Amino acid sequence: MNVKVGIDRIGFYTPKWYVDMAKLARARNEDPNKYLIGIGQRKQAVIPNSQDAVTMAANAADQIIDDDNRQKIDLILFGTESGIDNSKSAAIYLQHLLKLPNTVQSVELKQACYAMTAGVQLAKDHVLAHADSQVLVIGADIARYGLHTPGEPTQGGGAMAVIISANPAILSIEEGSAHYVADIMDFWRPLYETQALVDGKYSSQQYIDFFQRTFTQYQKQTNLKISELQAIVFHLPYTKMGLKALRAILSKTSEIHANQLLREFEYSRMFNREVGNLYTGSLYLSLLSLLINSESLNAGQKIGLFSYGSGAEGEFYVTTVQPNFKDALNIPIITKILSQREELEIPVYEKMFASQMPLTNTDFETDYQADDAKFYLSGQKNQQRQ
Ligand code: CAA
Repeated sequence: MNVKVGIDRIGFYTPKWYVDMAKLARARNEDPNKYLIGIGQRKQAVIPNSQDAVTMAANAADQIIDDDNRQKIDLILFGTESGIDNSKSAAIYLQHLLKLPNTVQSVELKQACYAMTAGVQLAKDHVLAHADSQVLVIGADIARYGLHTPGEPTQGGGAMAVIISANPAILSIEEGSAHYVADIMDFWRPLYETQALVDGKYSSQQYIDFFQRTFTQYQKQTNLKISELQAIVFHLPYTKMGLKALRAILSKTSEIHANQLLREFEYSRMFNREVGNLYTGSLYLSLLSLLINSESLNAGQKIGLFSYGSGAEGEFYVTTVQPNFKDALNIPIITKILSQREELEIPVYEKMFASQMPLTNTDFETDYQADDAKFYLSGQKNQQRQ
């Protein structure tokens, strides 16, 4: 590959409400350290009925669209497992909200939490074939398991948006990637369910198995030595999950390098610990967390990425840090989104959780007046989302 292709910009959005995980643990008669250390979460985003996958994606993508790339973007790839329609793609709603040209090809992608990575790789190939084009890739979801379920401390939600282009400002994507796919029932959501069904322990085992398989396969394909990686970032359904996977391969490297990978992992989970699971966007929030918080990243260093989508599909690939990458990150906006949120007491969170727009054909008005985001869902009228 002669032309460098990769991530040129990154946007992130999560709604303004959260619950404190120690308080949630006490309300569920659990030891707070189970959620804080055992699961590895400090706060969890609470998604109001005025935000869905489309509005959250618009709020994230709006940060990275300007007059220059508005003309260059010719493809939107929208990864989600929280789709709002079985037929019409979320990407078309987004094209309209962002006022992107009507000539932009717009498609929704689905394979659980893996779909944003599928978008990134398809976008890379698209840019390699059309060097002047740019692709907007989205991962936007609401992670819902239900109150009083084992999955409850691993909920969350939000959106990631990236621009894939030639000569990227943040990370170039290395050639090659390793996939592993198997038809398993670890986590799924049948059409009649608004909350995910999950075999929690089995899903965590499968995640580690898929990581080891794809990591080993990638090494075989490319002769990559683990010592060449400055950091490995993971899909983080809960942050302890990534730590378990990382620990599974630490014996393959020296103690000094293992300690470095563990140190970088701590930077890569800082944001996810504050938000919870984003499903499709989680890996890219973790990447953003590493890029913003790590003190030792330099141009030319390599970062490994492990993407996992239940059902299941895993992929491992590698990116290279670009010079001055920090200048291309919207650090003040990201910091503001995370620091200016409002805590909800547990009964208020439970009420908000139960106030989702019903899956019926009746008109509905959301609580949008309490939502100060630029893009929000005001309700449903004549069977159309407003
Ligand atoms: N102090 C410190 N740690 C404690 C503790 C305490 N007081 N009490 C318990 N712990 C630890 C436990 O030892 C355990 O650690 P290990 O996993 O390292 O053994 C951890 O806290 C969790 O405890 P349990 O296993 O007892 O927790 P649980 O059975 O209640 O549920 C879960 C955990 C299975 C992850 C559940 O939250 C769940 O089902 N989550 C949803 C599924 C999920 O996220 N799967 C991940 C892989 S699938 C995927 O990645 C796709 C996706 O996005 C969903």
